[in-house]
Amino acid sequence: MKRKLAAGNWKMHGTNASLTEIAALVTAHPAPGADILLCPPATLLARAAVLAADSAVMIGAQDCHAAASGAHTGDISAPMLADAGATAVILGHSERRENHSETNELISEKAHSAHAAGLTTVICLGETLAQREAAQTLEIIATDLHASLPDSATAANTVLAYEPVWAIGTGLTPTEAQIAEIHGLIRSLLSERLGETEAAALRLLYGGSVKPGNAAGIFGIANVDGALVGGASLKAADFSPIINALEATA
Ligand code: 13P
Repeated sequence: MKRKLAAGNWKMHGTNASLTEIAALVTAHPAPGADILLCPPATLLARAAVLAADSAVMIGAQDCHAAASGAHTGDISAPMLADAGATAVILGHSERRENHSETNELISEKAHSAHAAGLTTVICLGETLAQREAAQTLEIIATDLHASLPDSATAANTVLAYEPVWAIGTGLTPTEAQIAEIHGLIRSLLSERLGETEAAALRLLYGGSVKPGNAAGIFGIANVDGALVGGASLKAADFSPIINALEATA
């Protein structure tokens, strides 16, 4: 039975003082009916992993370099993330695609490296508002999915997150029909690529302005296996009700 997944992406937020939020989450969900993954900034990874050790909360990173080591000042490799206690890494987030000019090919290389280091990858896809208005959404999703997924991807080591760029941090969300359309498309593309059984087992997250107030509605949509949450994952008081809503659909 596929476990649903509530993933939190802290982005460039959080210092030592924020660790109390992770401790609160650990306490609030001792035996959750869904998987919980929290991705704090790299500076907090090791401390977060110690805090969450022996708990149901998994700790992940937000990016990695494609190489395992080398002369890459300021970068962090997948084996280093695993060494710090991370078990997963977000890759291809639209903020990295845009702010760091990350291509599908680079994301695929990073994902391959992360899989080799034993990490689960949360690979992000999503159209911009201009692309949606130009009716390019389906094409963008298909292209980005095929090109950013490495051959090492399986249902066990990969999660996909559909995050429409225009819904991130804006308070806007697609309609239920729009989310269902894209998640259905991703599932059928995965079927062609990985076969029906693997495709059915791979978890598809929705991300973009998921809040306690809209989570239950989003989790009721076909082919939505969880969420990738930004702002509302920063405080346990906001993230907890989202996890509870997911558990209720599991
Ligand atoms: P928000 O939940 O803040 O819209 O962010 C979504 C996101 O980008 C998660 O990766």
